[in-house]
Amino acid sequence: MSLPLQTPPALDVEALRGDFPILSRTIHDRPLVYLDSASSSQKPNAVIDAVSRYYRESHANIHRGVYVLSEEATIAYEQAHVRVADFINADFEEMIFTKNTTEALNLVAYAWGLSNLQAGDEVVLTPLEHHSNLVPWQQVARRTGAVIRYIRLTADGCLDMEHAAETIGPRTKLVSVAQVSNVLGTVNPVDELGRMAHAHGALICVDGAQSIPHMAVDMRAMDCDFFAFSGHKMLGPTGIGGLYGRRRILEQMEPFLFGGDMISEVTLEGASWNDLPWKFEAGTPPIAQGIGLAAAVEYLQGIGMEAVQAHEHTLVRYALEQMREVRDLDIYGPEADDRGGVISFNLDSLHPHDIASILDQHGVAIRGGHHCAMPLMRTLGLNSTCRASFYVYNTTEEINVLVEAIGAARRLLRR
Ligand code: ALA
Repeated sequence: MSLPLQTPPALDVEALRGDFPILSRTIHDRPLVYLDSASSSQKPNAVIDAVSRYYRESHANIHRGVYVLSEEATIAYEQAHVRVADFINADFEEMIFTKNTTEALNLVAYAWGLSNLQAGDEVVLTPLEHHSNLVPWQQVARRTGAVIRYIRLTADGCLDMEHAAETIGPRTKLVSVAQVSNVLGTVNPVDELGRMAHAHGALICVDGAQSIPHMAVDMRAMDCDFFAFSGHKMLGPTGIGGLYGRRRILEQMEPFLFGGDMISEVTLEGASWNDLPWKFEAGTPPIAQGIGLAAAVEYLQGIGMEAVQAHEHTLVRYALEQMREVRDLDIYGPEADDRGGVISFNLDSLHPHDIASILDQHGVAIRGGHHCAMPLMRTLGLNSTCRASFYVYNTTEEINVLVEAIGAARRLLRR
C-alpha cells in the first residue's frame, strides 16, 4: 500500500522536511518516521542555528552588564518575549517565560491558587488532564480545603457540556482544562468553558501544551485568564515555555520564585518586585532557549498556523481511515473533525511497550504508556495505550509505514 502524498497545496512538506536535519536519519536501517511530536517535536535548522549563533557570538548574562555582549543578549532575550507575546496576541507584560507547561501551571497553582482559594471553593478540572494540570491542583486543594470537581466525558472522549454547565457554579473559583488532550486529541471548547467560568465570577486556566504547536491561539479572542505552554513541542528548545496571565491578575499575584531578575529592591528587612513580566522570572533566565523559541515562532509564522492545522487535519483523517482497516485495532477518541493530530490505540491485548518496540524496528517512533494521564486511562478502563502524534513535517507516506508496521507487530505477537 503506497498512496501519493496528500497535503494542502499551501504546504510543501517535502521542502519543509529538508529544514529538519534529524529527519534524514535512519533507525535500524530504515528511514526515521517520527510520530511522537506530542511528546516533543523535532527542530528546524532555524532554531538550531539561532541557539548556536547566540552561544557563538553573543552570550552573556542579561539585565546585568553594560558591556556589548550583555546588551546584545538582553536585547535578543527581550525581543524573544515580544515575538512570543505577539504570537499569542498578548501584551509584553502578560507573557512570562517558564521552563515548560508544568512549571507554568505550578506557578498558577502556587502563586494564585494558594492565596485565592479557601475551604469549600471549587476548582473544576476534567478527567482528560495531563498530571501537570491535575496534581498541582490536588496539592493546592489539600492545603486550602478547596474541592476539585470533574466534568464528565462522553463515550467518544469529548467533554459532556451539559455536565459542565451543572458542574461550573457559584462555588467555582477556577476552571482549568487542556485545550487539546495529549492522549485522545480531543479539542475542548475552551471559549465556551471560559464564558461559563466568567458568568460565575471564576477564572479559566488553559493548558495549551498540545494546542499552541498546532493551531492559532489568540489570548484576546480566547478571553482566558491563564494559558500555559511548552516550547519544545512547538519546534523550540527544551527548557523554555510560557505562561500568559491577564495583567490585572498577574499584578495582584505574589511571585512564585524569589531571587535574581525578579527583584526591584532588597533591604535587610524585605524586598520589592520587578515589573511584569520579570516579576515571575527569577534567577538567570533561559536566554538561549528563549531566543530559540522565538526562532521557532518565526518559523511557524512563516508557514502559517492555518496551514499547519490543515495539514495535520489531513494526516489525522487519513490515519484514522487507514488504521480502522487494521484487524483487532482499538482506536480511542473523537472523529477527525473534533481532534488534533493525536491517535491513541491498542492492538488486541498486546502491551503498548511491545508494540512500540516492534515499530521502532521499522524506524517508527511512537509513545506507549499512560501518557502522564493515569486518571484518563482509568476512566477509559485501560492501563496504557500506544500513541501516534503528527506534526507539520509528517506525510501520508509515513502513515502508511505506521500501518504496515502495526500489521507486522500483530503478525509477530499473535503467532
Ligand atoms: N506531555 C508529553 C506527552 O504527552 C510528554 O507525551
